[in-house]
Amino acid sequence: MNKTGAHSNPPAAIIVLAAGAGTRMKSTKPKVLHQVAGMALLDHVLAALAPLESAKTLVVVGHGKEWVTEHLKQKHPKLETAVQGEQLGTGHAVKVALDALGKVSGPVLILAGDTPLLTTDDMQNTILGLSGNAATVLTAHLANPTGYGRIVRDSNRGLDKIVEHKDATAEQLAITEVNSGVYAFDADLLRTALENLATDNSQGEQYLTDVLGILRSQGQSVTAVVTTEENILGVNDLRQLAAAGAVLRSRICDEWMLAGVTMVDPTTVWIDRTVELDAEVTILPNVTISGASKIRNGANIGPDCSLHDTVVDHCATVIRTTSIGAIIGEGANVGPYTYLRPGTVLGAGAKAGGFVEMKNANLGPNSKVPHLSYVGDATIGEGTNIGAATVFVNYDGQEKHHTQVGSYVRIGSDTML
Ligand code: UD1
Ligand code: MG
Repeated sequence: MNKTGAHSNPPAAIIVLAAGAGTRMKSTKPKVLHQVAGMALLDHVLAALAPLESAKTLVVVGHGKEWVTEHLKQKHPKLETAVQGEQLGTGHAVKVALDALGKVSGPVLILAGDTPLLTTDDMQNTILGLSGNAATVLTAHLANPTGYGRIVRDSNRGLDKIVEHKDATAEQLAITEVNSGVYAFDADLLRTALENLATDNSQGEQYLTDVLGILRSQGQSVTAVVTTEENILGVNDLRQLAAAGAVLRSRICDEWMLAGVTMVDPTTVWIDRTVELDAEVTILPNVTISGASKIRNGANIGPDCSLHDTVVDHCATVIRTTSIGAIIGEGANVGPYTYLRPGTVLGAGAKAGGFVEMKNANLGPNSKVPHLSYVGDATIGEGTNIGAATVFVNYDGQEKHHTQVGSYVRIGSDTML
């Protein structure tokens, strides 16, 4: 990496394959849009690619292309897409991509949209491995290589070819080094080799993996770069989706702890990739923080909280709370057994106590709703106390009505406003 954090020698183009049906997911949703750690599989891949700063990144879409294209338009508007009308295999998908890219030469990075644990370093190392060769493939040694393409090496330990699991001989199935699905190719050599792809395999598909063998047989040199078992996990079914989620969660917790966040039991803490934490936040067991949540310095969260799209300001305390779309002010106290719904804003030093539900309500600084109350569609000033069992009766069956309570007001117990 250079001083600005960007990687040197960006690839001429990046191709992400995301057109497959994902049959093994048993889902109508396109595989690459399934979520882990708060982002689609495809988003994790694109996030790892971003630092490479390639001039062009193209996503091949096909199965469920309307959904995938719409998702890309919203989240990654700069990316190009190419449509693979029929999913005739990964080799065919790359042909479609190269046709759409037009004139590119130099290194092209190709990977699948279903490998969310790959790191920027993995991709960078694959490109570096290409120098002077026709192709590099990123591989790993797996304890259980079932389902993956096997890396067949020649007598000099050089890469000979890749054989898909379904086409492998018993001897090849015993090979534990597998194809990650990440490759760097010289664009021109790739284009020519793709012309020679056949479909004489068990799936009747044009395999991109066959290009490596073709290049070798043309006398070109082909290399492999090895990474870890964990990084290459490809998500093909819902068990693998859960397994990828577990790894991502533990990576995310590790990153935050190294950045100064205290976690009493990180194995029970689920933080989405999309969440922002300050240093010196403390997180107790059984906490889920998701969506666009932000937790500021000195806040104490947990135990037993689910916070979604929630902002917790400096030094606030949140215990046993479900919160969606709320803003919790500096030094505020929330919980236990509290439900904050969208549009709730707690001012600095405010309190929403036990068995309190709030929605679309603004509780001013140092105001308190300590016990057993529902506050819906209300504005409450500062320093006010709302007694136990107060209900803001906001709905008459037809319309929602707004309630206003001033500052330094005392509301007694068991009151319907
Ligand atoms: C592929 C590799 C295998 C490797 C594994 C790593 C091939 C033939 N096999 O197998 O060697 O070990 O990835 O995870 O490449 N796709 C398209 N168009 C198609 C077919 C697939 O865009 O016509 C996309 C899919 O959406 C997916 C990716 O290509 O993102 C890989 O396809 P998938 O069916 O998951 O291949 P694997 O069986 O995992
Ligand atoms: Mg796959």
